[in-house]
Amino acid sequence: MNQEFANDVKAGLTAESKYLLPKYFYDARGSWLFQQIMQLPEYYLTKCESDVITNNTERALKLFSRGNKRFNVIDMGVGDGLKTKILLEYLVGQKANFEYSAIDLSTAIMEILEDSINAAFPDMDYRPMNMDYFAALEQLAANSKKNVRKVLLFLGSNIGNFTNEETVAFLTKVKGYLQKGDLLIVGFDLKKRPEIIYKAYNDTKGTTAAFNLNLLHRINSELGGNFKPNYFRFYPFYNPQNGELQSYLVSQKKQTVEIKALDLTIEFDQWEAIHTELSKKYTLNEIEDLAEQAGFKVEQHLVDGKGYFVDTVLTV
Ligand code: AVI
Repeated sequence: MNQEFANDVKAGLTAESKYLLPKYFYDARGSWLFQQIMQLPEYYLTKCESDVITNNTERALKLFSRGNKRFNVIDMGVGDGLKTKILLEYLVGQKANFEYSAIDLSTAIMEILEDSINAAFPDMDYRPMNMDYFAALEQLAANSKKNVRKVLLFLGSNIGNFTNEETVAFLTKVKGYLQKGDLLIVGFDLKKRPEIIYKAYNDTKGTTAAFNLNLLHRINSELGGNFKPNYFRFYPFYNPQNGELQSYLVSQKKQTVEIKALDLTIEFDQWEAIHTELSKKYTLNEIEDLAEQAGFKVEQHLVDGKGYFVDTVLTV
């Protein structure tokens, strides 16, 4: 049994406002569902960020190799790596002097990635790190070579899962692992017409609903729960004032759920909700403010053609 998962589920489902943490979406089925989400016509985020990367490969290489330095591209929360692969293909093609370190907590994701990286770039200096971000950054710091620039990538709007307070704490902690000249590139989803944002999470196929409900299936299979996922409804809600897209699973009836491994019985009132995810949206000013609060300088905003998504380049 994954003890951390067990503890977090217990804390979340016994809290006054129930919640489950989004990092637990990504078991094998959840990772597969997320790959389907990234291909949905409504889920513009991946397409827009791919557009940013495709249009900035040359600029990226110049930036990363400034001063003729070797660099280490450190990909935090890599997912299936589709976007990073656009960049890697260019770097490998240009015979850039670099190494690639991919960090992801999900073993399922790392296995998919490993096969495809080895097939596409057999000679690339590649280090898979199946652990959490800070364990990986610790390890990299312990083995770091003086003349290798760190280029940290935190793409895909993963940062949107954090509140602003958590973002500043996270960026400040990351900054502790960077030296002068290192880079951090963060993908932020920008505020835009609210309908577009809402539809990205309320897709017509119901894939995002299945992705959220999968958390209940995961509790059933890993912790001996008896959730009936069809007794819950997925409900996303976007607040254009604070840019928060909040996701919930709402209990359609009064019901009792048991989770054997936790020795826990949970009561749900009719229409009681479990919060599952925050997917925050930003303006460029808000991004600059957050970066500044964490002690970073904004070097560039790389925005896609539609103005929907930005990869912001930060320096210390
Ligand atoms: C990974 N994360 C940034 C995605 C997002 O947009 O918040 C996860 C996701 N949730 C629903 N659809 C996609």
